[in-house]
Amino acid sequence: MKILMAASEAVPFAKTGGLADAVSSLSAALASLGHEVRIVIPRYYRIDRGTLKKLEGAMGVPSGGGEEWCAVYTTELPGSGKKNPVIVYFIDHEGFFGREGIYGNPSEPDFLDNPRRFSFFCRSCFQLCRKIDWYPDILHAHDWPAALVPVFLKYGERYGVSGEQGSFAGAASVLTIHNLGYQGIYSKDSFSCTNLGWDVFYQAGFDDWNMMNFLKAGINSADKLNTVSPGYARETLTASQGFRLSQALNGRLEDYSGILNGIDTRVWNPQKDKFLPAPFSSSELGGKAKAKALLQRRFGLKESPETPVIGMIGRLAEQKGIGELFGPSYGSAWSICRDMDIQFIFLGSGDIWAENETLSLSSRLSNFKAHIGYSEELSHLIEGGADFFLMPSRYEPCGLNQMYSLVYGTLPIVRNTGGLADTVENYNQETAGGTGFMFDDLTPSAIYNTVGWAVWAWYNKPEDILTMRRRGMKKDFSWEKSALQYEDLYKQALEKKEVLT
Ligand code: ADP
Ligand code: GLC
Repeated sequence: MKILMAASEAVPFAKTGGLADAVSSLSAALASLGHEVRIVIPRYYRIDRGTLKKLEGAMGVPSGGGEEWCAVYTTELPGSGKKNPVIVYFIDHEGFFGREGIYGNPSEPDFLDNPRRFSFFCRSCFQLCRKIDWYPDILHAHDWPAALVPVFLKYGERYGVSGEQGSFAGAASVLTIHNLGYQGIYSKDSFSCTNLGWDVFYQAGFDDWNMMNFLKAGINSADKLNTVSPGYARETLTASQGFRLSQALNGRLEDYSGILNGIDTRVWNPQKDKFLPAPFSSSELGGKAKAKALLQRRFGLKESPETPVIGMIGRLAEQKGIGELFGPSYGSAWSICRDMDIQFIFLGSGDIWAENETLSLSSRLSNFKAHIGYSEELSHLIEGGADFFLMPSRYEPCGLNQMYSLVYGTLPIVRNTGGLADTVENYNQETAGGTGFMFDDLTPSAIYNTVGWAVWAWYNKPEDILTMRRRGMKKDFSWEKSALQYEDLYKQALEKKEVLT
């Protein structure tokens, strides 16, 4: 099949979270199955044009009643295989994307012109195909920034200029929801930027309490849709966890499923991780002890093999349970570090109050260290060297770090939700079963108690910890399995595709 992935992020070019990992590694896995896969993303300011090839000529994209002009750059996705490489296209529009930040910046967290920027981007995906004279069978859109791709396909692009068969007549669309918490809700005053009529505004269900909702319209328009774990798919159908879109999703019940993300096992593999001091595996764990020692040194902690190290990496956002963990007067991190004989290492960035709080904990507690920022190297060292990995997420569509942790023998301590519940099994003290430690309620005391339980097991049941480590390390989270499920979803989308008459 010919597959076009439309997304706002893809590693190694632009990333704020797991979406970027998922888009690139799914594309590579589909290419290994023999499909012709291309990715299109905006050319953000940070992506150096000098490293890319420019396609000849400018490209005009209908936008807001007129036309916007842009350039297109291209390159191959690194590491996607010589035989059938994934080609990446970059839509280069100075006014929309030639600025610092993907969705916003610290002083303007959600750019005011985001509806125009991403509506333009979605429309440019179709113009790109015309420009390169390559028409996909599947248009695969990811999250709200690409959610207008299925809408444009259904309400226009499938048809030619005057109603005859258009070049996209045979194409079907798939929408993957990586995070229902972000929907692209804007004033409907900017609806005109989509170049769609008001009839479509209501037919596609853009309307959302007098606002305009990109993701909702995408959900209503895609031929098939999915999210990134079966557990999260079930949760999003409930009013309490559906972020006000449970009704829209229930309306598409037949077409909606959950497919667990994989991990890029070429990058996340303790047997050949270039960031670790020595390789290790489930039968040879010596390298893990070396990684732990290096990690402790790097963070200025006492080099002590006996003390359990708890790691945590990620965005400091409400979604990740940071209020309950780091909330200044009630969060559990302070008491965990004060009461337990452990070391705690945090890597990440996000909400300013939480960044300040982690730095303040670092200065008040000798066993808590925080590194604010993004570091590929440190993230590998933490996954490799820590004994436990904490993810107290409020909700988690899939989550990648707990899977990295499992294959690196680092036992996850997670909330029983979404993709975390689908990938981690709770410790059973009677049988030494499980691969991690889980709790249900998101409260400071539940986090405290569950970390306490893990620490108790570390000191009192070392043989269980070893058994669990080995069990986790044997898990197969490679993309191949999930790519086959997407292949199947594409086939269903092609059978199902709805053509308006
Ligand atoms: P989300 O997409 O909700 O942020 P995921 O667990 O799916 O959560 O993916 C987060 C990805 O980003 C992982 O690959 C994680 O290692 C990476 N990551 C997040 N913050 C950092 C950081 N500060 N340094 C390095 N990698 C990070
Ligand atoms: C989102 C989710 C995360 C998921 C990632 C990739 O950012 O928050 O749980 O793993 O997308 O699908």
